[in-house]
Amino acid sequence: MLSTALTQALQNQIGYEFAASQTYLGMAAYFHTQNLEGWATFFEKQSAEEREHALKIFHFLLETGSAAKLPAIAEAPVQYSSALETVQKSLEQEQRVTKSFQDMAALALKEADFTGFGFLQWFLTEQVEEEATFERLIALIESGINLFQAENLLPA
Ligand code: FEO
Repeated sequence: MLSTALTQALQNQIGYEFAASQTYLGMAAYFHTQNLEGWATFFEKQSAEEREHALKIFHFLLETGSAAKLPAIAEAPVQYSSALETVQKSLEQEQRVTKSFQDMAALALKEADFTGFGFLQWFLTEQVEEEATFERLIALIESGINLFQAENLLPA
């Protein structure tokens, strides 16, 4: 059984992951309107990954006999001023998620919840990759490359 505090934090995190999924889908919609299909596909994949993160937590809560929760999600924008804005906002979102997992790891240790602490390690590692991806995309766009040509350089 997980600690009550960590259970609540993980329940909240399910909402953050679904919100991130929705945000990335909105960014995919924006790129579709710009005819940048490669960028749209990249963001659709990001959206699907975030849904998987939410499900990973959802299943973990159920497997440990804790209650799952599905928090409300706010509407996500589908319009952006530029491609640079999308990747900057993405990085900020990932940094908030990283902080959230770091806080949960600290909480798990404080509560001596070692099962929960172990579960969180996968996410902490994943966040290193997620932040690095968007840092690279910011650098790619800031290089001044044509966005259509940049599609060949997007992460698979
Ligand atoms: Fe689920 Fe991109 O963090």
